[in-house]
Amino acid sequence: MIISENPMYLLSNQLINPDKIFKFIGILTVTHQTLKYFGWNKQYVFYLMRKVPYIENKIYKKRKEIRDKIKNDLNDPLKTMKLNLKLPKKGKCEKTILKEIQAHNELTLYDSNKGRISGCVYSNYKKLDTIMAKVYPMFERTNPLHPDIYPGVRKMEAEIVNMCANLMKSNSQEAGCFTSGGTESILLAMRAYKKLAEKRNIKGSILLAKSAHAAYWKAAEYFNMKTIEIETNQLPLDSKNIEKFVTKDTIVIIASAPSFNFGIIDNIESISEFCLKNNIFLHVDMCLGGFLLPFLDNINVDFTKKGITSISMDTHKYGYGPKGGSVLLYNDSNIFKEHMFVKEDWTGGIYGTSNLTGSRSGAVIATTWATLMACGKNYYENEAKRIQKIVYKLKDAINENNYLDIIGEPNVCIVAVNSSHFNIYLLADKLKEKGWSLNQLQNPASFHFCITSIHTMEMIDNLINDLNSCSREIMKNPNIKNDKTASIYGTTQKVYDREVINDVVKDYIVCLNELY
Ligand SMILES: Cc1ncc(COP(=O)(O)O)c(C=O)c1O
Repeated sequence: MIISENPMYLLSNQLINPDKIFKFIGILTVTHQTLKYFGWNKQYVFYLMRKVPYIENKIYKKRKEIRDKIKNDLNDPLKTMKLNLKLPKKGKCEKTILKEIQAHNELTLYDSNKGRISGCVYSNYKKLDTIMAKVYPMFERTNPLHPDIYPGVRKMEAEIVNMCANLMKSNSQEAGCFTSGGTESILLAMRAYKKLAEKRNIKGSILLAKSAHAAYWKAAEYFNMKTIEIETNQLPLDSKNIEKFVTKDTIVIIASAPSFNFGIIDNIESISEFCLKNNIFLHVDMCLGGFLLPFLDNINVDFTKKGITSISMDTHKYGYGPKGGSVLLYNDSNIFKEHMFVKEDWTGGIYGTSNLTGSRSGAVIATTWATLMACGKNYYENEAKRIQKIVYKLKDAINENNYLDIIGEPNVCIVAVNSSHFNIYLLADKLKEKGWSLNQLQNPASFHFCITSIHTMEMIDNLINDLNSCSREIMKNPNIKNDKTASIYGTTQKVYDREVINDVVKDYIVCLNELY
């Protein structure tokens, strides 16, 4: 199964049809609107309504129905496979294990080399596969938590951080760390800013666009921070449209370069000046752009913009490294120190880490290091420019399509599309039928395609042909009811009580471990 980076894939890929539960919630909504008219708080109204035994029972039944359907869909591809729910008594031989592993590998629905996947797989560079296969076994048992035992791992990890800091023109190359991915980098940065907020005696809120990555909301929840959200119709963010949202509690502003959802680059220069002037920290999310922007001529985002206090850049995306890699950089090691954890009187010894995790894999560090060394600046530059050319081609083609609209001004790696002529999810469904795996977005309804190093111009020509033929076909009957995957998104936008969706998603996550 392809795991999309869009968090809402949780619902969309499962072919669940919650029409009925949402119709039911629709009735609640009408009631809710009536009560709202009289000034009642909607969350509270829903809370009270759900406590009515009849309603509670109905919701429970509907949730169970959805849950069963999700589970069925998840387990369907596994139905011919033997399940291993207990340790085998006797260890199996290599031949048997490799045979079973191969069977698991064959369950993958998409062949990434055919290029029909948006994002997700960033490279198919054969040279890297060969090197990684040799490097991984050398370091598979190493752990950077023990630099005394593994000085070589420590050196490689530090070199990854330094190489990235150098790309970002940092004056504090030591101020940063290698993490397990964009989310960990973001969590750690937000923890640092929360601690700094405490020092300033403020709660510490994060000011961000609604299109920022979900990891910022995760951080806010983990570290008890508030979020102040700017609508997506205000994008790209700049000093003017953020100014009015700043409060005395604002500790950090998030800018994206580019954002996951729409691939939009915020006006970093103006936000940087604003932050510098107002003594607010600025985190620039370059999880996607970190290994693209330094190699493109027309976009310049790095620490030379003096207001930027931290940058996250993922080695496991356009750095083409193995999954489980990102680098978090600060412009000052005093901020870096804030995110660290130290337990000086721990009975196990004096303990301190820069990561959320304790033990980590030295093999991911070694293979990431090998990837950076194997690619070199020239390869990154060639790929970044080639990807940008493909983005421009896709953008031009969509602009020529009378029924589709581009969101924002894509110029790096992502092209987001919506339509004022029909429900865009109809198009997403049709493209899915043709074998494309897209990222569906909501608020506003749209989808994006993320071009990676896997894609060739020819593959994107095929996408353009399919976009054009499918949208022409939909225009023959543009008002057709969309009752498949996308209707979840469409319906989602109309549900006022978000807690119901929240429960369904949690059910889904539990189902992931239920194999029978
Ligand atoms: C802009 C941006 N930030 C953060 C993340 C989170 O990264 P990860 O999935 O590696 O945790 C992503 C993932 O797609 C992203 O696109």
